Amino acid sequence: MVMTHAAPRTAADFDGLRITDPDLVDWVQEIAALTRPARIYVCDGSREEYGRLTSQLVAAGTLVRLDDAKRPRSFLARSEPSDVARVESRTFICSEQEADAGPTNNWAEPGVMREELREVFAGSMRGRTMYVVPFSMGPVGGPISRIGVEITDSAYVVASMRIMTRMGAAALERIEQGADWVPAVHSVGHPLVVTHGNEVVTRRDVPWPCNDTKYICHFPETREIWSYGSGYGGNALLGKKCYALRIASVLGRDEGWLAEHMLILKITGPDGRVYHLAAAFPSACGKTNLAMLRPTIPGWKVETIGDDIAWMRPGPDGRLYAINPEAGFFGVAPGTGESTNPTAIAALDHDVIFTNVALTDDGDVWWEGLTDTPPEHLTDWQGNDWTPESGTPAAHPNSRFTVRADQAPSIAPEWEDRGGVPIDAILFGGRRATNVPLIAEAYDWEHGVFIGATVSSEQTAAAEGAVGQLRRDPFAMLPFCGYNMADYWAHWLEMGETLGDGAPRIFQVNWFRRDGDGRIVWPGFGENSRVLEWALRRVNGEVAAVDAPTGRLPRPRDLNLDGLDLGQEDLDLLFEVDPDSWSSEADLTEEYFARFGDRLPAEMTDQLRALRQRLAG
Ligand code: GTP
Ligand code: MN
Ligand code: MN
Repeated sequence: MVMTHAAPRTAADFDGLRITDPDLVDWVQEIAALTRPARIYVCDGSREEYGRLTSQLVAAGTLVRLDDAKRPRSFLARSEPSDVARVESRTFICSEQEADAGPTNNWAEPGVMREELREVFAGSMRGRTMYVVPFSMGPVGGPISRIGVEITDSAYVVASMRIMTRMGAAALERIEQGADWVPAVHSVGHPLVVTHGNEVVTRRDVPWPCNDTKYICHFPETREIWSYGSGYGGNALLGKKCYALRIASVLGRDEGWLAEHMLILKITGPDGRVYHLAAAFPSACGKTNLAMLRPTIPGWKVETIGDDIAWMRPGPDGRLYAINPEAGFFGVAPGTGESTNPTAIAALDHDVIFTNVALTDDGDVWWEGLTDTPPEHLTDWQGNDWTPESGTPAAHPNSRFTVRADQAPSIAPEWEDRGGVPIDAILFGGRRATNVPLIAEAYDWEHGVFIGATVSSEQTAAAEGAVGQLRRDPFAMLPFCGYNMADYWAHWLEMGETLGDGAPRIFQVNWFRRDGDGRIVWPGFGENSRVLEWALRRVNGEVAAVDAPTGRLPRPRDLNLDGLDLGQEDLDLLFEVDPDSWSSEADLTEEYFARFGDRLPAEMTDQLRALRQRLAG
């Protein structure tokens, strides 16, 4: 039976947790009046609730329960083939002024967008349950943490939010105590009751409801998020990219901190000294892998703090402190295997939601790279029979796992420290077949900001678009910066001034350089520990470096290559800085910078000039 409430609801009409905060009650009522759900349920975040929702999703065909003996309490979701990645072309920054969104974002006039959203959201939840999901980004009540409330008509989103954030009663309590919160509205855009003329039609649900029309909208001034038409993680789990990056980047600009697309790791040297690194790589370029790295060099230990997002602010001692605002990992499955990321494999033992991977005949999951040879027969990510002869990937290239962070054996004991961990070094990287050396150290903070601002990377499957094409992805934030990218660079420059001597060292890395045969030369993964070791020896002032045009390079004897089968030719290629191709790159940078007009900080032009001088010299 489907009820459609005509009369306005009171908080007493909400099932689940009781809400008393008047602003929250008003907002829930307002969204319900617009979207007209059959029922309103306020989530408590309990294990029982998660159990109920996942059982319901299994019954609806959204989730397949995996074999409980092989992978306890785990599920597979198959999305619509059209709903598999972030939709950057439908992602909007709706600032009052177009210039405040900048040339790298899609902008829409807020009044116009509100009108459009009102239209698509009108009745969009008819026949469905509207879930109210209070959540905390960062440990509940922490000084750097923030509260949000997502309204969604997707139980898959609720279940995923329980893994990815601190969701439910504790977050709601913060609101009842007066904490600020960011409102975020999500609808898959597939009402179960629709009106055709005078006729009211009830339709059957589908396993993965979504809509061909999609909107991922952010209102930076009023700090609101509206997402319509997609169930995919990056578009629908609004605490993640929408809040923790796009909205939080604006909060950070206004309040003097940083919201970044960065992993955070703790690394302990053979002498017991502890360091923390943050690293920004574009989507599907190695953050989760580096965060879970198992060093191949003796005596070193890496522990995970976060794998995707860092919120960082200057501490009382003048250093930069970082927290992971998330509670789980939404990681890329393909390429994750025992030989590349054994830590992730261990984390995925139980209590996982997989999306768009393949199903084995005995009720477990598989994806390219999980094992060297695929099983004889699989059900692929679209639900079709698959054999090694099929000639198509069994798992979608952007298939993902969703798992709680503390299931990773590498999780650092201090990963939930409310004040964060002090950052010693920041790495910027990307997927570059040419030009960018394995590692180079920035000459200073300003040069580091220039390196971050000029990151290019070959495009991956994490967003729609042509895979492999080189594109600028400054600070790995191109899809995630909620304001003008040039202002963002200015904010970074200002942070450098605030931090002064306490600022982390900045490095550029590239694990993806290829030789003439197209082979990736650096073995990567655990071997990346060798590169981190050099960076930390630089932080400690233990080793000198070679000044090169794009930054300081290791002296050959300082990079630990013991036991590594790497020829001199390969090594030369890894550190080659070719002045001609870098000059061309500088020309492209100049063109790129021109897009930002007079918002471009003068320091960036100075840095480009200095790079050219070093290339000429
Ligand atoms: P998002 O979660 O989308 O932001 O991406 P991410 O930066 O966490 O990327 P992830 O660590 O999941 O890596 C994506 C792909 O890069 C996988 O296919 C990995 O196997 C591959 N990869 C990661 N690290 C390395 C490396 O050191 N060398 C090589 N060759 N490939 C790597
Ligand atoms: Mn990411
Ligand atoms: Mn990741």
